[in-house]
Amino acid sequence: MVNLMLKQGDLVTIEIEDVSSDGNGIGKVNQQAIFIPDTVTGDRISARIVRVKKKYCVGKLIEIIDSSTNRIRPRCIVADKCGGCQWQHIDYNFQQQIKKTQVRETLKRIGGFSNLKVENIISDQDLGYRNKVNYPLGVSETGTIKAGYYRQGTHQIVNLNQCPIQDERLNPLLREIKQDLQKLKIPIYDETTRKGVLRHLCFRIGKNTGEVLITLVSTEDSNAVIEQQARQWLEHYPEVVGVCLNYNPHPTNVIFGKETDLLAGRLYIREIFAGLTFHLRPETFFQVNTNTAEALFERILQQLNLQGTETIVDLYCGIGTFTLPLAKKVKNAIGIDSQTVSIQQAKFNAEINQIDNVKFIQGKVETILPELTISPDLVILDPPRKGCQPEVIESLLSLKPKCIVYLSCHPATLARDLKQLCQENDYQLDFVQPADFFPQTAHVETAVILNSQK
Ligand SMILES: C[S@@+](CC[C@H](N)C(=O)[O-])C[C@H]1O[C@@H](n2cnc3c(N)ncnc32)[C@H](O)[C@@H]1O
Repeated sequence: MVNLMLKQGDLVTIEIEDVSSDGNGIGKVNQQAIFIPDTVTGDRISARIVRVKKKYCVGKLIEIIDSSTNRIRPRCIVADKCGGCQWQHIDYNFQQQIKKTQVRETLKRIGGFSNLKVENIISDQDLGYRNKVNYPLGVSETGTIKAGYYRQGTHQIVNLNQCPIQDERLNPLLREIKQDLQKLKIPIYDETTRKGVLRHLCFRIGKNTGEVLITLVSTEDSNAVIEQQARQWLEHYPEVVGVCLNYNPHPTNVIFGKETDLLAGRLYIREIFAGLTFHLRPETFFQVNTNTAEALFERILQQLNLQGTETIVDLYCGIGTFTLPLAKKVKNAIGIDSQTVSIQQAKFNAEINQIDNVKFIQGKVETILPELTISPDLVILDPPRKGCQPEVIESLLSLKPKCIVYLSCHPATLARDLKQLCQENDYQLDFVQPADFFPQTAHVETAVILNSQK
């Protein structure tokens, strides 16, 4: 009898039939699903089996036998090495189609929502969109400093002198700041030996103001050498408004430590979002794709038709990105976030925009929401990838706002949470709007609107 089971090392020919939610092409051999990075629907390829699991295998692309019409030449010279983007080889129109389908299929498979109308994906620039980058630093074999993303599935840095998805105004800075760091001769941190000082080079740019903040993450406090260099950067680059040093001595993959010191200029950039001014510090969350986030926010506003009489609550509000523009359109707004520095910044952002019908509360949503004594008309929530804790869903169901707007960067947890919100017919899912915050990657953002049925 012929053994149909695939083994590690087997070479197979596969037609790619689909793309998985984590961005890999999927094909089948002997009814067994095989996931192959760097491929796309319509490719005919040969692949080497590199991992065999109970229900699926993972393959490595060896040769493209027939290229899909959805395949393009990557616009990044290190696309085949760098783990920053997975989809540089996929035509942008097709990337948008895949994301829309994934949102619809995930809501159906996990949430049980069939026959859903999903709006066409909102998108803006497919390159040059990132307003924030955090590059780990390393040293090459010849002793030069490297900065870039890790090679997929490793901690080997792929050195970048430019990156096509970051705001293009950051490209010269990336090249030149790295050269200056080389001259300073400060040891670069090695995560294996846990020795060295400089760990990350981070940039944040105001898409609408052009202001740039440079942040160095270091295992040591600042010193005279680095402070002098910071002042030079400030003098040399008119767009740079601040240079900061974040202190992180811990052996961890978390980039930022708790303390950030100012080396030169100011500790924040200004950004304009939805007509308001925001101050952004190095370590606080802000949507990475300003233009698409703004377009998505406008789209939601159109759907909500606010009257100015509403009380709203914004859960996981960050620095008030959505709370503050919404506060301008309603009677009262409350924002809740667990990060102390975000809440401080949100309060400050309210002040500089002269918005006084808003209150920000620091704490975990799962603790604060059950204690709220008000009855909001609208709750907006934008949790991290893992979605909401069960207590948050329970509180929403007992608070019974007329309308819930849920923004999510992970369709699977969105579908899980929506299923619970809708299972007793308390809410109906009325509007599903995907948005492409992260072109060239498999990530998709989704905003949905739920209306109360009771
Ligand atoms: C995806 S961000 C959204 C921020 C904000 N809505 C915005 O658009 O800028 C998620 C936010 O949730 C906060 N967060 C994470 N877990 C939390 C929790 N359990 N309770 C409250 N806030 C939390 C983070 O500090 C972060 O600001």
